Amino acid sequence: MRFSPTKSYLLSLPRTLPRLIRLVRRCLTLDIGARRLGVIESHGQAVRAVGILVDDADEAHRVSVENGAVSVLEPHVLNDDAKGGKMVMAEVNVVLRYVGKHGYKGPMLPNYEEVESLPLTYGLVRLDHAVGNVHKLAEAVNYISKFSGFHEFAEFTADDVGTTESGLNSMVLASNNEMILLPINEPTFGTKRKSQIQTYLEHNEGPGLQHLALICDDIFSTLREMRTRTHIGGFDFMPKPPPTYYKNLASRVGSILSDEQIKECDELGILVDKDDQGVLLQIFTKPLGDRPTIFIEIIQRVGCMEKEESTGREVQKGGCGGFGKGNFSELFKSIEEYEKTLDGTLKA
Ligand SMILES: [Fe+2]
Repeated sequence: MRFSPTKSYLLSLPRTLPRLIRLVRRCLTLDIGARRLGVIESHGQAVRAVGILVDDADEAHRVSVENGAVSVLEPHVLNDDAKGGKMVMAEVNVVLRYVGKHGYKGPMLPNYEEVESLPLTYGLVRLDHAVGNVHKLAEAVNYISKFSGFHEFAEFTADDVGTTESGLNSMVLASNNEMILLPINEPTFGTKRKSQIQTYLEHNEGPGLQHLALICDDIFSTLREMRTRTHIGGFDFMPKPPPTYYKNLASRVGSILSDEQIKECDELGILVDKDDQGVLLQIFTKPLGDRPTIFIEIIQRVGCMEKEESTGREVQKGGCGGFGKGNFSELFKSIEEYEKTLDGTLKA
């Protein structure tokens, strides 16, 4: 492809939770009038567009449309006379929003102002991946990879994750530099429980963004800060896995995480997975609205450091440690083991 997507758009995450919530909402409020109202009416709380920072938004839009993308917003310029510079935005339906900076140096978007915030940081750095749920995976992957030039980065099926409860097939698409990661899920059928992806599609009234994964450098301190604010309007997190999950953890990742770190994972309800290159620490919030649809994932990736060719800086390879595929089977196994211990207690 002739355009070069460089980074996911939500680069400079705000340092406080209330501002994070506002930022997620900004993905909606960027769109005015009937279009915004229409999105909320049919999907509830949702993200309408995922922004991708590119060198040239006009070019990205043109090449995408030439390769089959349906345009929903022609390139347009946002000027900021006070700060100087401009940005160009364009959208194709999925919805991916191409954003070109063209000299713009201000915060967030033209005509936004920095506001004073508490001298507190949650340590959230940037968007790591944005996940979509669709009815038909092959069709969606074909469509997006054809117009964006993104390649297949990883794939897993319901069989891979080792449980018939999971009910999903998944594929991760990545940009050339693998800094933009777009996993896509489809439901599978015939399992004991309804696929969580099918539940999403019904409640969201169609395909959409399932979760945003925000990456941090120290998930323990990030989680401690976030958990202390759950009861005052912060995020609610999914329930902790049973104790058997953490008992098995040392044998899975004991060579990489210390006993102290495994204990902290247990205390904070953090899940751990690994691939052949690194380790992933992850935790999920409950859905943000009143439907079982969009939620947020907080992650830390450990390992996979390499030298960036252009700058010589040490950077982490995109997708290091995977996306938590191993946690499906580990969670299922630990729940089974835990239920057996409860049976034992009852019988005793
Ligand atoms: Fe994720």
